[in-house]
Amino acid sequence: MKKKIVLLTLAAVLALSATACGSGGNSSEPSDGGDAKTSDVANKDKPLVWYNRQPSNSSTGELDMTALNFNDDTYYVGFDANQGAELQGTMVKDYIESHIDEIDRNGDGVIGYVMAIGDIGHNDSIARTRGVRSALGTGVEADGAINSEPIGTNTDGSASAVKDGTLEINGKTYTVRELASQEMKNSAGATWDAATAGNAIGTWASSFGDQIDIVVSNNDGMGMSMFNSWSKDNGVPTFGYDANSDAVAAIAEGYGGTISQHADVQAYLTLRVLRNALDGVDIDTGIGTEDEAGNVLSDDVYVYNEDERSYYALNVAVTADNYQDFTDSTVVWEPVSNQLDESEHPTKSVWLDIYNASDNFLGSTYQPLLQKYDDLLNLDVEYIGGDGQTESNITNRLGNPSQYDAFAINMVKTDNAASYTSILSQ
Ligand code: BGC
Repeated sequence: MKKKIVLLTLAAVLALSATACGSGGNSSEPSDGGDAKTSDVANKDKPLVWYNRQPSNSSTGELDMTALNFNDDTYYVGFDANQGAELQGTMVKDYIESHIDEIDRNGDGVIGYVMAIGDIGHNDSIARTRGVRSALGTGVEADGAINSEPIGTNTDGSASAVKDGTLEINGKTYTVRELASQEMKNSAGATWDAATAGNAIGTWASSFGDQIDIVVSNNDGMGMSMFNSWSKDNGVPTFGYDANSDAVAAIAEGYGGTISQHADVQAYLTLRVLRNALDGVDIDTGIGTEDEAGNVLSDDVYVYNEDERSYYALNVAVTADNYQDFTDSTVVWEPVSNQLDESEHPTKSVWLDIYNASDNFLGSTYQPLLQKYDDLLNLDVEYIGGDGQTESNITNRLGNPSQYDAFAINMVKTDNAASYTSILSQ
């Protein structure tokens, strides 16, 4: 059946190219990397996957359904932000409970924490801030959800965007206070900025000293920067997110824990949805339905939300109990590690950008995974690294979309989908 579809498609394409351009070229051939068109498919009809930054309103979080429905082959791949956020919050709370004898460094009965916020307009970052505040009882409701704003400093517990929480442990009541939080944005505008977090912890440590019992971060890039510059030497547990290899290794040295967002599953899904769309097969092939090479994902590692056109990987907490299983974040997920047959799945070319070439998670975990899967899926991917600040730095490098068969897009700002789709619609 599949052969028949492929043959029919080929016949249709040949007929089209004979009438439309009269050229003798076989348009189903892979691109040679030159300026030539790869096919007669219009750019607006080519498969498109948004990943890591979900098209959405950066103030309200509302999904940008126009971008998510750009064409019939458009999807988003990310992870379940709320499930992961809850896990992160619970991981921190569990740690406090099981280390209560040593956690309160100055013995004042107040467990103080500071928090590094990645990007106040990024749904993942917002969810993580809320997850921690919710688990520790420091969250304040605003418009039906926990306020995720950074508070600056909150020495005496009087900040209005958070409140003091309480934890009952072994019959004693402790206060939990968010002493400080800040969006880690550098002066040029890059968010999730690790260096900014490294500086912030220095400032916070000099004002709060041993009032800081815990450091929490929206990701490992910032978390490790704070750990290396301050918390490791001061024995203060620091919690991040992403399970980058360096952060997992640091658990042996006192890093409190991290969350794996199953980048091994996400990187696969990012390229797999493109592969399936290019092959003209059911989108579930090699995802929920085993493909002919044996690739399949079990439903405990991802969910698909059809209305949102979104695949979400599920998260796993990584702590001192299990970190040995997560030491290399760039290993492909074994159930989807089988090579596709090149004759059935000919090489296709993909344009893919990473919004910030120096983002720790995307650079040290996600891209190495993509580079392994692109071989397994016979995709010739051109990787474009942005500066993390300006969308045009990236869109300028999408000058000739006709050269590619499909696109994978990681935006600088989640509101900016139209900057890309307008190029593809031209
Ligand atoms: C990751 C961060 C990363 C961000 C980039 C998040 O999912 O956890 O580490 O900086 O994506 O968009």
